[in-house]
Amino acid sequence: MIIAIDGPAASGKGTLAKRLAAHYGLPHLDTGLLYRAVAKRLLDAGLPLDARDHAVAAATTLDVATLDEDALRGRPMGEAASIVAAFPDVRAALLAQQRSFAAQPAGAVLDGRDIGTVICPDAPVKLFVTASAEERARRRTLELVGRGEPADEAAILADIRRRDARDSGRATAPLLPAPDAVILDTTGLTIEEAFQAALQLVESRIAAYNSL
Ligand code: CDP
Ligand code: CDP
Repeated sequence: MIIAIDGPAASGKGTLAKRLAAHYGLPHLDTGLLYRAVAKRLLDAGLPLDARDHAVAAATTLDVATLDEDALRGRPMGEAASIVAAFPDVRAALLAQQRSFAAQPAGAVLDGRDIGTVICPDAPVKLFVTASAEERARRRTLELVGRGEPADEAAILADIRRRDARDSGRATAPLLPAPDAVILDTTGLTIEEAFQAALQLVESRIAAYNSL
């Protein structure tokens, strides 16, 4: 069973992906980490984010199994990731690793921007998780405040809007619900409510798929 989850920044897709993976006992891949890792390699080497050939080389040699989530978290890296993610060659270089993760015997949960459209177009379960930009900025702000870090909600909102525009506007694999994705708007939902709604959608998709 492959569960494909896509959506914009701070929509809650990662939280849902983790909970669904735990519920069904499936491995989970946060594919945003791959793009973040490519961006980090460029930054660590003192290279600009538009150094395409270096970005492709970094993507080609990336190992999903050794990603350091803590080092890749955070706003600046998300922004940097969206810049390297716009290069079609970088996306192509990361495709095989994501597909092979999805092809594990029991199945997998993957979350990102193009899981339902490009990585796993045949996934029986596709969720497109969304929330208003204001709600997403509020969530990111609360996250930072919770960690005792400085948070400027207006700047975070501007950041989210810019990243939405870049991710939705790019020519290759733009952020877009697959035609057969179920849209889940989590604005105003608690994490538990969003999880219950997602669970229902997944269960109904599984039932529909099994009856084919
Ligand atoms: O993975 P993505 O960037 O889409 O979002 P996330 O990291 O799962 O969620 C962003 C933040 O919103 C986290 O701090 C979640 O705890 C919070 N959240 C929430 O408050 N209500 C929800 N329904 C979902 C997430
Ligand atoms: O957690 P959040 O949604 O803030 O970011 P992320 O999922 O870690 O993704 C960071 C950036 O990587 C996104 O803004 C996208 O540009 C890119 N990305 C992508 O293009 N395709 C994916 N499957 C996952 C992420």
